[in-house]
Amino acid sequence: MKKIVFDSYEEMCGAAADIYAKQLLKKPDSVLGLATGGTVVGLYAEFVRRSGAGEMDFSKASAFNLDEYYPIKKSNPQSYDYFMRQKLFDHVEFARFSIPDGEAHDPAAECARYDAEIEAAGGIDLMLLGIGLNGHIGFNEPAISYAMGTGLVDLTESSLVANSRFFGPDEIQPPQALSMGIGSIFASRSIVLLISGANKAPIAKRLCEGKIHTDVPACFLLLHPDVTLIIDRAANGD
Ligand code: PGA
Repeated sequence: MKKIVFDSYEEMCGAAADIYAKQLLKKPDSVLGLATGGTVVGLYAEFVRRSGAGEMDFSKASAFNLDEYYPIKKSNPQSYDYFMRQKLFDHVEFARFSIPDGEAHDPAAECARYDAEIEAAGGIDLMLLGIGLNGHIGFNEPAISYAMGTGLVDLTESSLVANSRFFGPDEIQPPQALSMGIGSIFASRSIVLLISGANKAPIAKRLCEGKIHTDVPACFLLLHPDVTLIIDRAANGD
């Protein structure tokens, strides 16, 4: 894992956007894995800015998102479908984008369909990840065993509490999600992991110790041949 430390979140977003820009220049019809959460908001704003300025062209690229709450309506402002449209897909043209369907009646069938769609697209060239306070990537929560492909997962207390900040007092927070598995993430050719903020310093420290902590799902990334960790000083504990 290659680690690059930046002074600020803005610089992190610029560096991550540069990696995506390079990928799109090399392969305009790249298959891009995308994430949701607070950490990626600045990067998507940078994608929108660069795309508007003609500096990046996503029009031949495909996008696959990591996860979606389950069950949830796409029209719910807390859904990741809604988040992605609002932050990126309403502003930047992609050849196509796909998100696990939180409205699916049969979640197992939806997960199999999603995996088949990724495979048919040729697999993910460049995957974007954030990390949870508990070390999750996607919604692969700390566990004894880890899923290969997309699956229906129970969210842990840590993730429910961390994400409750996005839900109003009267909004129902779904207890489950459809998430790409560790195997899906690992099959990506290249991976960019963004970690920002002092609250992430303890989990970043465990990840960067260079050991496979089995209770930190992100540690699987230490085994992948092409992962770039982009981190700010606060998260790096500097
Ligand atoms: P965050 O979420 O960017 O909102 O901290 C990251 C994650 O849970 O993967």
